[in-house]
Amino acid sequence: MVGITKRFPGVLANDHVDLELHQGEVLALLGENGAGKSTLMNVLSGLYRADEGAIYVRGERVVIRSPRDAYELGIGMVHQNFMLVETMTVAENVVLGLRGLSFRLDLGHVKRRLRELGAQYGLKVDPDAYVWQLSVGEQQRVEILKLLYRDVDVLILDEPTAVLTPQEVDDLVEVLRRVITEGKAAVFITHKLREVMKFADRVTVLRDGKNVATRLTRETSPDELARLMVGREVLFRVEKTACEPGDAVLEVESLRALDDKGLPALRAVSLTVHAGEIVGIAGVAGNGQRELAEVITGLREATGGEVYVSGERITNCPPLRAIEVGVGHVPEDRIEMGLVGDMSVAENLALKAYRNSDFSRGPVLYPEGMRRFAEDLINGFAIITPGPETQVKFLSGGNLQKTILARELTACGGLLVAVHPTRGLDVGATETVRKQLVEERDRGTAVLLISEDLDELLEIADRIAVIFEGEIVGTTVADDASLGEIGLMMAGERTESEGMAT
Ligand SMILES: Nc1ncnc2c1ncn2[C@@H]1O[C@H](COP(=O)(O)OP(=O)(O)O)[C@@H](O)[C@H]1O
Ligand SMILES: [Mg+2]
Repeated sequence: MVGITKRFPGVLANDHVDLELHQGEVLALLGENGAGKSTLMNVLSGLYRADEGAIYVRGERVVIRSPRDAYELGIGMVHQNFMLVETMTVAENVVLGLRGLSFRLDLGHVKRRLRELGAQYGLKVDPDAYVWQLSVGEQQRVEILKLLYRDVDVLILDEPTAVLTPQEVDDLVEVLRRVITEGKAAVFITHKLREVMKFADRVTVLRDGKNVATRLTRETSPDELARLMVGREVLFRVEKTACEPGDAVLEVESLRALDDKGLPALRAVSLTVHAGEIVGIAGVAGNGQRELAEVITGLREATGGEVYVSGERITNCPPLRAIEVGVGHVPEDRIEMGLVGDMSVAENLALKAYRNSDFSRGPVLYPEGMRRFAEDLINGFAIITPGPETQVKFLSGGNLQKTILARELTACGGLLVAVHPTRGLDVGATETVRKQLVEERDRGTAVLLISEDLDELLEIADRIAVIFEGEIVGTTVADDASLGEIGLMMAGERTESEGMAT
């Protein structure tokens, strides 16, 4: 790809990007959220047309107008959101959209070929299974098989590990290794440094739509890649002392709840978080994490079980009651639930501290006190904003998250429920948020940290509970040694230490 430029209204998503992919390699395309990775690969796979630039395949200039054009050139992509038809079988999905097929298509032949490909590349899937019966990891295998069935030479995978357990990630590495020994090549999009080091032969780093560097993986390091990705030095490990847990702050007993579709989302979840402790909830998305946070913070009804905070029963109490007993909440959805876009940074920061006598006595507000309160938090949490009067809707994602965190941490009186607190944040903001969580723990707050990012949990949690299909299938101390164990539990395997020890 030479000089690829792609604009969206108001956004320069790709800015004269050059990118080379060689036969027999896995190329990582690394960059923070919004760096332009998906856009660039959507251009290559025919979903978008570039505004400028050219694409060459084996030295020939080509024009790719559609995904079908891309297939014909041997290029195929697995998108972040899979594009499978749930009510059809694996084999039917694989042949869907192939040119020149009739209804009398020989599915028997397709299935045989899929079994062969599955064996060849280590992609086991039953061709007769319906897609709705498959786990997310299996659906990803179907997407890959679909490309291999079309005999593509270039496989593009957009953030493929986001939905996988650690073991599935290892399996995927194996698959890609086998694929490239066949003279094919793969592009692996990610924002995780660890994965680049593990998966890729070379890495191209995008920042703000530009190609800022390309390196051989063996000649670079996570530190250098982080610097390239973010544009400055970054700290990696949050300094953390051993945990000294105090009394139980959050006690959840046999909690049950339904999801938005009315199906069981929590099935008798029990866990305890002590003062001065961070308990992480690990699990593949959609296993009850969201519902757990919502029930604890009073946003969703419990259909059974109890929630106590500092000894007070708050089961099915309104959210205000949770705030009164000292529950802070960093919600998953920052703008809709966490902040009021049209209000200023200062007002948002003060939302829960309205009883603070520095700026309010009864109905009387003292703007000077509120401004000072806001300025302290803006400095303390390194919130980048033109000033306390700026409306929060003009802040970037990382600064929105820091604003919520600042408010919730100062308002919370014992328990903080943080849901994906660093999702979508750049490396710098992630570092700040993680440090703040650990500092809060050290001040004696009990922190329940729900995260899909295992590295994050291993880095800052003291204990990790794994949730699978609405149940806590095990808990373990958070150290690197427990990674394998956690992975097995994320896939639903139970361990001896089942339930949450108190
Ligand atoms: N279809 C689209 N319409 C408008 N803007 C888009 C579209 N797709 C991506 N963008 C913007 O282009 C930029 C790059 O996005 P993307 O390629 O998705 O980044 P990445 O995959 O690296 O996270 C972002 O600012 C994003 O908001
Ligand atoms: Mg993307």
